[in-house]
Formats: sequence, C-alpha cells, structure tokens
Amino acid sequence: MTTSPDSGLLKPGQIPREAAKRHGVPRHVAIIMDGNGRWANARGLPRTEGHRQGLDALRGAIRHAGQRGIDFVTVYSFSSENWSRPPTEVSFLMGLLRRFVQRDLSELHQANIRVRVIGARAGLEPGICALLDEAEALTRANTGMTLVVAFNYGGRDEILRAARQLAEAAAAGQLDPASLSEQDISSRLDTSDIPDPDLIIRTSGEQRLSNFLLWQAAYAEFVFSPVMWPDFDAAAFDAALDAFSARERRFGAVSAGGG
Ligand code: IPE
Ligand code: IPE
Ligand code: MG
Repeated sequence: MTTSPDSGLLKPGQIPREAAKRHGVPRHVAIIMDGNGRWANARGLPRTEGHRQGLDALRGAIRHAGQRGIDFVTVYSFSSENWSRPPTEVSFLMGLLRRFVQRDLSELHQANIRVRVIGARAGLEPGICALLDEAEALTRANTGMTLVVAFNYGGRDEILRAARQLAEAAAAGQLDPASLSEQDISSRLDTSDIPDPDLIIRTSGEQRLSNFLLWQAAYAEFVFSPVMWPDFDAAAFDAALDAFSARERRFGAVSAGGG
C-alpha cells in the first residue's frame, strides 16, 4: 500500500501539509546562534567582541533568508538560562539587543519585515520591554518575512506558562481537563501565531537544543553547522538549506514511495 502524508492514516490537522509538500525551501528556519565566545577566544578577544560580530552575522542571515524566500526566521538571542553568565556579559547582551532594535528597526520595517518577540517579559528591564513592544507594534501589519526574536526564552518556561493558564482555566470551570487538546496547548504558547520550524540550525558544532522550541521542534529537521556564529555567512546558510532539501520528512508515516 502506498502511504503518503495525504492518506487517511494521519489525523487531519496534525500534518503540516504545506511543509511536507515543499521540497526546497523551508518555510520556517530557526537558528541557535552559538559560538560567539569561542570565536572571540580563538582570536584573543573578549567574549563581548564575539557577540558584537555575531550581531553583524545576524543582519547578514536576515538578509539572506529574505533572498531565499524563507517566510519565518526565528533566532535564539538570549535563553532563560543565560542569566547565569557573568553580570558584565549579561548586561552587554541586554545592551546589544537594545542597540539592535534602536538601530535596525526602521530598516527592518522598510524591508516589510514583521518582528515578533517570544520569551518571558517578566524580569526584563521596563526599557527593554518597551523597545520590544515598539518593534512588534511598528511592524505588525508588514507582509514580508517574519523575524521571531527569542529573547529571555526557554522552551520549558514557555510550556510552564501555558500549563499555568490551562490550570487556571480548569480551576475556574472554563475548561474540561478530559477534552484538553494539543491545540489548547499550542495556542497558549508564545508561538501561537507562528508555524512550527521546518529546519533548526545550530552553529558552532554543538548538538543540543538548549531549551529551544521544545514543543515546536517535534518534526523539525536539524542541521548542525561547524561554523562559529560570527562566521556564519551566506555560504554556510546555503549549506544548511541544501542539507535540508536533501532530507525526507515523514511525519511518522512511511515515505511517499512506500519504502
Ligand atoms: C551564543 O554564543 C550567544 C549567546 C548565547 C547569547 P555563546 O556566547 O554561547 O558562545 P560560546 O558557546 O561560549 O562559544
Ligand atoms: C543557547 O546557547 C542559547 C543561545 C544561543 C541564545 P548556549 O551557549 O547558552 O547553550 P549551552 O549552554 O551551550 O547549552
Ligand atoms: Mg554557547
């Protein structure tokens, strides 16, 4: 029997059909931008210099993603665990985000890019929250690529926040636990309006998720690039996209040819 993602064997609504049918360009690429510190260390520079260069690599990656027709790009810029870094590094990273929004927002807006921010707002400086709100508000109606910035983001924290909302709704009698669905959870995640990533790229040779998009990565393809993030250029990005296009995505079914 030939089974394809369109056969009746998979439950409707659970198959990212659009993604399954695309054989070339992923609709949503999520990137774990890793290796800034090692890049700097290898050059005898302070770690902060790696982060500074990493911001340039981010600008290049956004441009390249647009040129390749990618609809959503998510970048992991600060994790909920990154607070455990030395205070000077944390404050440098906060300043870098601030500068990124202040300097690049108008250019992103002109490029018709919609900016979304995921992660916890609680615990962030009010000034930073205001900038993030401004970036989202200004670009809300844009129709080009969506840039999702994962800032103060942790996958477990995101799921926990959703679970808390559900528990509160159940306690208030607004939700029957027996009828809880996957949709009830995904619609309460920060990514409720964003499709799941098709491709997750991690640079620097590390091969782990580090609490990134735990729920959403269920059927993502992973590409681990040996390149340190500040050196991640168009060629390195294309190599990851090429690797993706050679993958066969099955979503739990068997391949289209039945093999
Ligand atoms: C990624 O580079 C940037 C952030 C986590 C903010 P790292 O700072 O983790 O660099 P390495 O992994 O120490 O080289
Ligand atoms: C993940 O990288 C977070 C970001 C890229 C922002 P880390 O460098 O913090 O992850 P670990 O500590 O190596 O797992
Ligand atoms: Mg790292």
